[in-house]
Amino acid sequence: MSQLEKPQRPPLIDFHGVCFSRYFTDNWNNVQNFKARPDDILIATYPKSGTTWVSFIIDLLYFDQTCPERHLTVPLIQRVPFLDIAVPSQPSGKDLADQVRTAPRLIKSHLPVQFVPKSFWENNCKIVYVARNAKDCAVSYYHFARMDYAQPEPGDWATYLNSFKNGKVVYGSWYDHVNNWGKRKQTYPKIHYMFYENLIEDSSREILRLCDFLGLSPSTEEIDKIKAAAMFDNMKQDKMISFFTTKTMDQRLSPFFRKGKVGDWKNHFTVAQNEEFDEDYKQKMKDSSLAFRTEV
Ligand code: A3P
Repeated sequence: MSQLEKPQRPPLIDFHGVCFSRYFTDNWNNVQNFKARPDDILIATYPKSGTTWVSFIIDLLYFDQTCPERHLTVPLIQRVPFLDIAVPSQPSGKDLADQVRTAPRLIKSHLPVQFVPKSFWENNCKIVYVARNAKDCAVSYYHFARMDYAQPEPGDWATYLNSFKNGKVVYGSWYDHVNNWGKRKQTYPKIHYMFYENLIEDSSREILRLCDFLGLSPSTEEIDKIKAAAMFDNMKQDKMISFFTTKTMDQRLSPFFRKGKVGDWKNHFTVAQNEEFDEDYKQKMKDSSLAFRTEV
């Protein structure tokens, strides 16, 4: 990407009390009026929590047997459209979702739970929520913001970490996101709440739990095949998911498939940053029943 082609970084905006950039609010009314179908599956996450990984797995679980060429020929952003996004000169996520002809439709969103289009609730859709520990999430989001021009300027790591702690990043507070989705699960049972760290620890077990929730019963061979395809190094090589053609991303600055590990935060946080983060975390998570692991 040459300097001239680089899209302008948008400013961070406050939108209904949550931080966004315009690329995630410009299509707001259309997104809010999205007509979900009862068999749609929403894959919801705070950014950088393993959305692509889980989207890829669910897509293979549904379609690899019946349509094995799908994942070789159709980019993941079309197989699992990103509902919220609207970047100029690219089809909006909502339009891509409307164009999906296969069933079930798999739809990705980073929206905080209060902004999920009401048709998903009205149709009693299944929702897979993926959460990742705050420290690794912050590091991953920092590197992503450095290379993705749909993100406001991240500043240096210390600046970014403060922004993350204060919810001054696109999609707002990690703490609110994971907790409010967790609370919604108590009243809406069709949410499967997953953790990135569990997937890293034992992807077979997590795929089986996912299948249980989705009502799928693939063979052991199929699960092994999907597990292998979904390994970090294999996904990184996959031209249908690498986001190389996404105009807002300059992966020379940081690759989309960056490390794929639990605990990379240790290479970024200073001792002081870690202590301050832990103190602040304790306060913000004091009423939470969620237990995150920062190492496995
Ligand atoms: P890192 O930046 O820590 O490497 P999302 O898809 O929600 O944007 O999340 C991106 C994060 O998930 C990145 O984290 C990316 O490397 C990681 N990821 C993607 N595919 C993965 C896989 N197959 N195994 C482990 N991590 C993966």
